[in-house]
Amino acid sequence: MSALPIPQLAYRPMRATDIPAVARLEKDLYAFPWSAGNFRDSVNAGYDCWAVCHGETLIGYAVLMIALDEAHLLNIAVAPDWQRQGIGRAFLDHMIGVARRAACGIVYLEVRPSNITARHLYRTLGFQQIAIRPNYYPATSGREDALFLGLTL
Ligand SMILES: CC(C)(COP(=O)(O)OP(=O)(O)OC[C@H]1O[C@@H](n2cnc3c(N)ncnc32)[C@H](O)[C@@H]1OP(=O)(O)O)[C@@H](O)C(=O)NCCC(=O)NCCS
Repeated sequence: MSALPIPQLAYRPMRATDIPAVARLEKDLYAFPWSAGNFRDSVNAGYDCWAVCHGETLIGYAVLMIALDEAHLLNIAVAPDWQRQGIGRAFLDHMIGVARRAACGIVYLEVRPSNITARHLYRTLGFQQIAIRPNYYPATSGREDALFLGLTL
């Protein structure tokens, strides 16, 4: 079920013109944010880049890379003021639906062990740990491992 919990919200594909707003949100949300160029590259590469909008205001975004029958969720985020209302769960379910409709057999993603909220969300949607990628992420002191998760569709 990927219906958004607030009727005024809607999904739509991310547009090139959304990138400044996406990059601003990204900076608010992550200590080590993607650059605007990373999002531009993702859109130009044809990745499945989606937005959640409240009218004209973009309040969430996600990037899914599909290669043959495998999908890799590269990013998913909800604006701070809109978190904890079920939007992240619905949005992730929507992105899983995108992968399913593209006939993918699995969705992969990486998550920081310290990201308890995201880990809870992924676990409760059925993702399982496949491996640990050592020293995958930059961190304030040194590097942080990534948990590599997968959801079989
Ligand atoms: C992860 C994220 C997308 C979740 O978005 P959201 O809209 O807040 O998610 P939901 O409201 O659907 O909540 C999902 C679950 O997380 C829980 N949760 C949300 N925020 C939480 C918090 N701050 N502390 C503890 N649990 C939290 C909710 O209770 C919910 O679980 P439940 O349904 O079992 O009660 C959002 O926190 C975010 O954008 N984080 C920053 C970016 C990020 O870390 N992305 C993931 C990278 S791997």
